[in-house]
Amino acid sequence: MKTFSGLLCLALALAWPAFAAPAPATAKDTTTLSVVTLNLYHDKLDWPNRRTQIVQTLRELHPDAIALEEVLQHDKLPNQAQWLAEQLGYDWYFASVDTPGAAQRYGNALLTRRPILAREQIRLNPLDDSRTAGRLRLDVDGHAVNLYVTHLHWTQAGGALRERQLQDLLAWVEKTADGAPSLLAGDFNASADAPELAALRSGFGDSYGSLHGAKDRRADSTLNPKFNPPKRIDHVFFQRERFEPVSSRILFQKPDANGVWASDHFGLVSTFRLAPSATADAQRPWTDRALAPDRRAALLVQAMTQDEKFQMLHSYFGLGKDGGPLPPGALGSAGFVPAIERLGIAAQQLADAGVGVTNPGNVRPGDHATALPSGPATAATWNRDLAFAGGATMGREAWQQGFNVLLAGSVNLQRDPRNGRNFEYAGEDPLLAGVMVGESIRGVQSQRVVSTMKHFAMNDLETGRNTHSADIGEQAMHESDLLAFELALKIGEPGSVMCSYNRINGIYGCEHDYLLNKVLKQEWKFPGYVMSDWGGVHSGSKAALAGLDQQSAGEVFDKAVYFDQPLRLAVAGGTVPQARLDDMVRRILRAFIATGSFDHPPQRQPIDDVAGGAAVQKVVEEGTVLLRNERDTLPLPRTLRRIAVIGGHADKGVIGGGGSSMVGFTVNGANAVPGLAPTTWPGPVMFHPSSPLQALRKAMPDAQIDYASGDDVAAAAKLARGAEAVIVFATQWSAESVDLPDIKLPGKQDALIAAMAKANPRTVVVLETNGPVAMPWLQQVPAVLEAWYPGIRGGEALARLLLGEANPSGRLPVTWLRDVAQLPRPSIPGLGFKPAQPAGSNVDYDIEGANVGYRWFAARGLDPLYAFGHGLSYTRFDYANLSVQVDGSTVIASFDVRNSGEREGADVPQLYLRLPQGHHTPIRLVGWDKLTLKPGETRRVSIVAEPKTLADYDPAQRQWRIAAGDYELVLGRSATQAAASVPLRLQESVLPR
Ligand code: BGC
Repeated sequence: MKTFSGLLCLALALAWPAFAAPAPATAKDTTTLSVVTLNLYHDKLDWPNRRTQIVQTLRELHPDAIALEEVLQHDKLPNQAQWLAEQLGYDWYFASVDTPGAAQRYGNALLTRRPILAREQIRLNPLDDSRTAGRLRLDVDGHAVNLYVTHLHWTQAGGALRERQLQDLLAWVEKTADGAPSLLAGDFNASADAPELAALRSGFGDSYGSLHGAKDRRADSTLNPKFNPPKRIDHVFFQRERFEPVSSRILFQKPDANGVWASDHFGLVSTFRLAPSATADAQRPWTDRALAPDRRAALLVQAMTQDEKFQMLHSYFGLGKDGGPLPPGALGSAGFVPAIERLGIAAQQLADAGVGVTNPGNVRPGDHATALPSGPATAATWNRDLAFAGGATMGREAWQQGFNVLLAGSVNLQRDPRNGRNFEYAGEDPLLAGVMVGESIRGVQSQRVVSTMKHFAMNDLETGRNTHSADIGEQAMHESDLLAFELALKIGEPGSVMCSYNRINGIYGCEHDYLLNKVLKQEWKFPGYVMSDWGGVHSGSKAALAGLDQQSAGEVFDKAVYFDQPLRLAVAGGTVPQARLDDMVRRILRAFIATGSFDHPPQRQPIDDVAGGAAVQKVVEEGTVLLRNERDTLPLPRTLRRIAVIGGHADKGVIGGGGSSMVGFTVNGANAVPGLAPTTWPGPVMFHPSSPLQALRKAMPDAQIDYASGDDVAAAAKLARGAEAVIVFATQWSAESVDLPDIKLPGKQDALIAAMAKANPRTVVVLETNGPVAMPWLQQVPAVLEAWYPGIRGGEALARLLLGEANPSGRLPVTWLRDVAQLPRPSIPGLGFKPAQPAGSNVDYDIEGANVGYRWFAARGLDPLYAFGHGLSYTRFDYANLSVQVDGSTVIASFDVRNSGEREGADVPQLYLRLPQGHHTPIRLVGWDKLTLKPGETRRVSIVAEPKTLADYDPAQRQWRIAAGDYELVLGRSATQAAASVPLRLQESVLPR
């Protein structure tokens, strides 16, 4: 429902310049923090009947934050935290407890009306009892505070378990508190004399806020600094540094017939005051970690000279100009901004990119890094934890090599399989791509390295990328590419966003007021800085006013260093306000402060190759997609004695993509197959030294495993005929700056595969490609694995998959088309290295609009070769008992998944929404889960739909709106393979911003 005040607020919010300085923090420490803690265990609190009353009370209290324990997420009850947050207009964060086999998911949640600076969770003692804790770092009037929540059942858990939980919790708090006052709101359900509570008190700096007893029918609602507990305690606040108790009151206590305690599940509202910081350095107030990043950055800006400010606004090419020396202080990488030592501002050292830390041309002799599997491989795992782990691997290695910015976070949608950079992206669906890339960004930044999110926006083709205009309507853009960015931003909170080369509806990405100011900074409230792509800047004041904050390597790639002299003149002449200049600098500094990089600058040290290798091998094992497996050809039986391995340089390694993201040096050495054309930019063609042949031989020492390159087809066929099984490796190289001319495997690989299949019916094909390729030989080949670009542990992981030591669980993040004729643009001028026609000046993305990939196929009634979401396993999964719960924009589907095969394996049940007849988009992915089940095991799964995928974007009101109507919720194995479905009636609603 529209209200005048709602519209007025919106109008004000949107009219507010993107560069308005943050509200000044109160100088005196009169800051208070009010927190409600509440155990929601529903039958105790009588949640279903009392929730409206609870919301009413919470509205009146208007606390800064709410800590919820025992939040329930199961099929009878939609997510309470999400519901409550929506009612109150708060942001929320859920730390889940996911006990294997449990039908119910309990967790802890934190809700807040304050800006969230960081959010994370930890699983405490994963071995038996699954308990979690969550943390939010909040900006409370310019102060940074940590609020932790947990729920530990210490009366039930055994002593050793308690001790481990406690240690985990304390160590985590120690690591994450990072100089800011910290409050732990918990429900400990422990006897008051439990030694762990005493330990917790001392672990938290031996200070203690408030406690409440329940079981002994006593309550203490005063914030009592003396520990004087009743026999049993439940809600407790512990605090480290600077919180002074002010008041506390019991809430929602449910009286029994006699008016006394009927339940130990109640709430508490407590208020704390921040005591002055003892450690703050009056000369350098920005070093106070207990201040919020915006405040610290603003203090730094105040202390800077105009020259120092301009120094921050443009980076140098970190590899030197025209082959000349590196800029003084640069480590050797894509970008460099000198330090301002006077103020303790470290140099910005910017390294590429999204599949590992690069070392272009071995500019840093001896430096190497873990080469990750390509973006689609990670996306194909559909496993958020693996995306995070991959990001954390890159972030850690960046930090260990001295970098504080990683140019990662590529989330452009795959609109065309010929896009040369698809291997850097995460597929065609905005939800999948946004979530997986968001997790990867979060992983990078967990290592105190700023990550970018790029290339903003619509950089979906490389052909003519520096000049062409990507033309698309606002609504369609928001419901496709921009949604991926929006979700990745929300999850990953990248410090920086890189604007793209291309024009969007005629305007360059790096001077796009609508995209940078209106959408990114105002609508999405992005607090960080926008950096340009290398060579993406065409103006000074225009770009600065449109929202660009930092020009990248302009002295090499742009016509001018616009953000130096030209911008100085513009500021001096008043074209660009000084406030905007300060905003640019503040945004940059804020990113380093918020990620912890400012306080914990990188320190060069050897990287952890073992940890890196293990993390990325798991990605290949879960991201490789078993496309076809006739007659259970795979896994290959261990009894085989003669295997022929053919082609793809499988004796040496696995292929990787070219361009700025290429990781050329790894623990196993440099390029395994040097000299393949092109050997210069965007080459060289890279083979990571991880040989599938060697890995297979190691795994099967008693078998004879021979290799033929396939150059001589007759010789290879002879080998194939004499073998019990044949594995053909086929590769497709792809690179930044150039698109593929078609979807054919290059060279004579199709003929080679066909010849092998003819020679031996047990022929398996392993594809190492940018994405979908034509497979004219498919009917002759019983088994096909898509391994994308599998990175430095590709060989080992593929051997394990082929032999059944790992069970494939990858699902396609893209539609596997049959033919380019099925694409929205079957022919695009300018594709390939030597294009027959020059690139066009426009790409019309309105042809498909928001219907990228499977949505296009559904809208046009096209039949893919393999649908988005498709992927086989060596076991089988059955689904049963689908039910759905709807509450406003909260839609939760619950169902049973059973492993009905003979092997342990992981499944990816997918939830799709079929929209009402006549809707512009026929189908959307709205959620998924990934779970591992033992043979015969059944688990009930609940998937919460992402609200934005239920809604349409309304460009006039700039909001997401769910249209009332009759929808259908489909539980699928892929976008086209429905296992069950239920009708779904949705009411009209506008999603909160
Ligand atoms: C690419 C970016 C990359 C930058 C720095 C550009 O050509 O588009 O993705 O981060 O170069 O190397």
